[in-house]
Amino acid sequence: MVERSEFKTERLILRRWRDSDLEPFAALNSDPDVMEHFPALMTREESDDLVARIESAFPERGFGLWALEVQGAGEFIGFTGLSVPSFDAHFTPAVEVGWRLARSAWGRGYASEAARAALAFGFDPAGLTEIVSFTATTNLRSQAVMRRIGMTHDAADDFDHPRLPAGHRLSRHVLWRITADQWRASRC
Ligand SMILES: CC(C)(COP(=O)(O)OP(=O)(O)OC[C@H]1O[C@@H](n2cnc3c(N)ncnc32)[C@H](O)[C@@H]1OP(=O)(O)O)[C@@H](O)C(=O)NCCC(=O)NCCS
Repeated sequence: MVERSEFKTERLILRRWRDSDLEPFAALNSDPDVMEHFPALMTREESDDLVARIESAFPERGFGLWALEVQGAGEFIGFTGLSVPSFDAHFTPAVEVGWRLARSAWGRGYASEAARAALAFGFDPAGLTEIVSFTATTNLRSQAVMRRIGMTHDAADDFDHPRLPAGHRLSRHVLWRITADQWRASRC
């Protein structure tokens, strides 16, 4: 297993989580703008539990949802990375690339920059053959990141999220994909 606990992009550091991230992470998890496409805002306890679950994946898989920091500023702005969906769907088992940034960090290209680094780790040292990403159909900002990093969408892959009740406003999800071959071709 190849493990990566920290790496840099042009402007960012992707790293393991620190205790000092818990407070700003809880703040973004309780921000209605950030959580618009999630079923509910998170309490401090739920947010801290999520960090514990995220951290527990690293030793098991060698990758995870890395905490994101802006180089120089030392400012925690959210996460980007790779995770394994814990529900069954037509595309699982799979590895997903995902992101969640503080509202103040949107519109700077940080999510796409970090996601490209996560794909590079997933396809090269980690040797994955495909990475997916999914979100509620309404989450156009997230889908714009998927498009920017070279993923493609086929409506035939869309699905109803099994953890949400039928008819929930966020139930319908889009699935985007990129294979290792597509990723390699896009870098030529
Ligand atoms: C989804 C999310 C990460 C997207 O963030 P984002 O900042 O819009 O995405 P990117 O990093 O790709 O940035 C692109 C934007 O930065 C701008 N930008 C500014 N400087 C840039 C630079 N140097 N390089 C690239 N883009 C830059 C682009 O023009 C684009 O702006 P636009 O949105 O006005 O078109 C963010 O909205 C978020 O955290 N949402 C809440 C959580 C969420 O929904 N997560 C996904 C759940 S599945």
